[in-house]
Parts: sequence; C-alpha cells; structure tokens
Amino acid sequence: MSEGRSADLPGPWGRWRAGNTGWSPAQAGDLSGRTAVVTGSSRGIGAALVEHLARHGAHVIILCPSEAHGRAAARAVRQRVTAAQVDSAGCDLSQLGQIPEAAERITGLVAGRLDLLVNNAGVAALPRTYSAAGCEMHFAVNHLGHFALTGHLLPALLNTPQPRVVNVSSVLHWLGRCHPLRPHRPRIYQRWMAYFDSKLANLLFTHGLSTWAHTRHLPLRAIAAHPGLVNTSLGSSALHAVGLHRQARLLEWMQTRWHCPSQAAWPLLRAATEPHVTGGEFFGPGGRWEWSGPPVLVRAARRACARRAAERLWQLSQQLTGCPFPSLPAGPGK
Ligand SMILES: NC(=O)c1ccc[n+]([C@@H]2O[C@H](COP(=O)([O-])OP(=O)(O)OC[C@H]3O[C@@H](n4cnc5c(N)ncnc54)[C@H](OP(=O)(O)O)[C@@H]3O)[C@@H](O)[C@H]2O)c1
Repeated sequence: MSEGRSADLPGPWGRWRAGNTGWSPAQAGDLSGRTAVVTGSSRGIGAALVEHLARHGAHVIILCPSEAHGRAAARAVRQRVTAAQVDSAGCDLSQLGQIPEAAERITGLVAGRLDLLVNNAGVAALPRTYSAAGCEMHFAVNHLGHFALTGHLLPALLNTPQPRVVNVSSVLHWLGRCHPLRPHRPRIYQRWMAYFDSKLANLLFTHGLSTWAHTRHLPLRAIAAHPGLVNTSLGSSALHAVGLHRQARLLEWMQTRWHCPSQAAWPLLRAATEPHVTGGEFFGPGGRWEWSGPPVLVRAARRACARRAAERLWQLSQQLTGCPFPSLPAGPGK
C-alpha cells in the first residue's frame, strides 16, 4: 500500500488506467492459506467469484440468506474444483440482528483470521420495502448490512497482515444521488433510483473505510469493483424492470453485449488480489461503456469520492447499526 495516498480520496480520475487490458485470472496467483468471505455467493457473480478464489487455493466462505442454498453452492464448487476448501454460512443482510451471529460463525470457520471480505450481495429494483429496522431495502441490504458485517468481521480481518475489503458497486452508481439526510427513508421512492443510490453508497463506504483504516495506520485496504452488465437474475430483472424485454431487437443487441458471471467476476477477483492497490481504487471491465472486457482501474463519479458525503454516510451507518466498528484511536493524520 502506498502510504500517504489513501488518506486522499483518489478523485474521479484517480489512477484511472483505461486500456490496461493485459490481466487474466492466472494473475490472481497462489491464494493457498488465505481465507475469504463472499456475500451473496449462492448464485450469480458471487458464486463465480467463489469458484475463482477456490481454484487459486483460498479457503472461501459462501454467505447467503438460505443455509440450504449456501450448502448446495458449496457442494457445486467442490464438484468442479478438486480439493476446493469451501464452507457456507447463512445470513440475511437486511436483518441486522443476524449479523453478529453470522460474523461469529465465520470467525470460527476461518480460525479467527480473515484475509478478504467481498461485499457482493445485492438486490435491485424492488417495490418500496423496508427492513425490520425500518430502512429502505436497497440501502439495508446493499449498504447497511455490509457495513455492519464489515464492522463485526474487523477483528478477524485485522488479525491478518494484509486484509482487504472489496465492495461491489455498479457503473449505474453514476446515476445515484447523495441525499445524506435520509437515504434509509427516502420521501419520494423510485425503485431504480433506490438501487443507483445504494451503489453510490458502496463507493462512499469504500472511501470511508479506506480513510478510517489509513488514519489509524491499519494495513486494511478497501477497494471497489463493478462487474459490468451481466447475465444473472439481477441483470435480467433489470432489463425487465425497464421494459426492455418487450423490445426484442434492443434486448437481443444488449444480450450480445453482456457477459457471463464467470468473466464478470474478473474485476472483483482483480480488486481482491492485485498486489499494488491503493485504498479507494475502483476496478471494472475495460470495454465500451464498461459493460464487459478485461478488468482495469475505472473512473468513479465525482460525488462517489466526496469526503463529506462519505463521512455523513459513515456516521449514519454507525447510528443505524449500533456502531459495529471498534473505537480505535485516530492517528495524527486525521
Ligand atoms: N448483474 C448485473 O448486471 C450487475 C451489474 C452491476 C453490478 N452488479 C452487482 O453485482 C452484485 C451481484 O449481483 P448478481 O447479478 O450476481 O445478482 P444475483 O444473481 O441476483 O445474486 C444476488 C445474490 O445476493 C444474495 N442476496 C440477496 N438478498 C440478500 C440478503 N438480504 N442477504 C444476503 N444475501 C442476499 C442472493 O441470495 P439468494 O440467492 O438467497 O437470494 C444472491 O446470492 C450485486 O451487488 C449487484 O448490484 C450486478
């Protein structure tokens, strides 16, 4: 980690390196002895990432709401990857009460040492729904549950020499708004806006966590990634929700552009394993409109790097989750 850089938000142009396309999963290297948790990995991009990590020798924990789905997904990886070390745990991220227990179970499975947490689980375009704690559901699952899980897993993460948290956002974060006062209880509700806002929150959380770790001189790196446009249930429900399934030719054209979950997991894998990264960086596919292509560092919207907004979101998330982050002292750099 290049000290001194991560305190400053990389900014919208950050270390953007378009055209750097020479990356393939082989470069993830040997991950034997490393432990990882991937949320929302019973299917879709998360499941594909688990398989990549397991192929490289990591011990991976699948986290998803249904324990039965998690066990089935773990079995499927073991059948495809010889000697894969894959376990599973159940947790509905919209239920804040389930998170401490899930974190405890994960900590047990990884013997107290967690190298990598990938906050990937996501919901999109739901009709207005609230979690048990009264938070809008996209905000609750896509951001708040992950904030709480990260906080509860910090002791295990900080027990390893180079811990990393990867937050999965979307190119659609560009359409998200910062509405710092009530992101959890929006007055006007539009289901796609709620998704875009939550994907913007993923990037603000990445910067908040990066700054939090840097000012405490902790080795933790928080990186963001997005998968592009992907043929998963979330991807196709997105096309349905905007009515594209009725426009056969446009749909056909779009389907030639989107990629499969296995390739879509590459930016996440690169964010998880690239040795020389700086906190707050953002990986995505390098092709046109970032829909597909090999993973590169990509640009985030300026408002996704706004320090004030990141701080406000951090404070609100602490209040709503009951402060799962240990109160480690901030260093003089703050
Ligand atoms: N697909 C795309 O085109 C696209 C584009 C940009 C970004 N992304 C992002 O990529 C990530 C993965 O998306 P995907 O396309 O792979 O979606 P997906 O196929 O719909 O899978 C979503 C995963 O999240 C889990 N999940 C849903 N609600 C949850 C909850 N309350 N608690 C815990 N886990 C929950 C699901 O578990 P169950 O199976 O048990 O429901 C599933 O494993 C998301 O963050 C999404 O925003 C996707």
